[in-house]
Amino acid sequence: MPTLFFYRRNEAGKILKKQTKKSSMSELAQYADLLTPIHQFLHCKTPQAWLDEARKPERLPLLLVDHMNCELKAAQTAMLLLRKYVAAPESQTGLLEWLKPYEHFIYRGEGSLPELLAQNKISKNIIAKNAAPYAQDILDPMILLIKEELHHFTQVLEIMEARDIPYQSITAGRYAKGLMQAVRTHEPCTLVDKLIIGAYIEARSCERFAALAPYLDAPLAKFYVSLLRSEARHYQDYLTLAEKIAGESIALRVQQFGELEAALIQTPDSDFKFHSGSPTPLK
Ligand SMILES: [Fe+2]
Ligand SMILES: [Fe+2]
Repeated sequence: MPTLFFYRRNEAGKILKKQTKKSSMSELAQYADLLTPIHQFLHCKTPQAWLDEARKPERLPLLLVDHMNCELKAAQTAMLLLRKYVAAPESQTGLLEWLKPYEHFIYRGEGSLPELLAQNKISKNIIAKNAAPYAQDILDPMILLIKEELHHFTQVLEIMEARDIPYQSITAGRYAKGLMQAVRTHEPCTLVDKLIIGAYIEARSCERFAALAPYLDAPLAKFYVSLLRSEARHYQDYLTLAEKIAGESIALRVQQFGELEAALIQTPDSDFKFHSGSPTPLK
């Protein structure tokens, strides 16, 4: 089990490293039941080389910015599913408006943390289109998921602001794109594949938060451990939906995406990101 350290700067800006109490490790131990099915679902653990890279203090700004982007992408993915498969025309505009402040913050540099915190208190009443199969099955978990991902978004932003880490635009890594390339092009297989991918992304995020927490300073470790429960539920929600909508066994597709996902996590990747593969030496 790794030793816990936290990092802080002294007045001269020098980074100091101190050993912490074992509190976040014991908190992590409480989540063993929750992590066991995640580890069984994923075909590999996060490589130690990725953890060794991610724990470097100089990687923290990129890690947090990418994490914040991932939270928005998770909300956008669920929103796309809602808009394509569930929402009636009269609910489309309201759904689009919901994400706009977060998208404007990321893509245009507009808005502030207090404005975003006020946004997520809005409750959404979505009207499902007539004859949308599985509308209610998709609606409730996806609305909750969007709310939670947007809450995580503002939590990451709060941490960045507290540490004077500015938001900077970064490119997307290969991970989600690599998974989406394998999506079948006819319904309902397209939807089923996207839901399985959603399950893998959520499961990997959960596994990585837990794996990374022991290497982070105490407040960050506490935050990452606090995300485990919702991300584990998101993984389960996506998988349950995929099974229900497929109406048949999805074991083969789950296996195929599991192998693809593990390849993206284990093979060399020069573009270090939250979901990147095994890092190659810094350029
Ligand atoms: Fe999240
Ligand atoms: Fe999530």
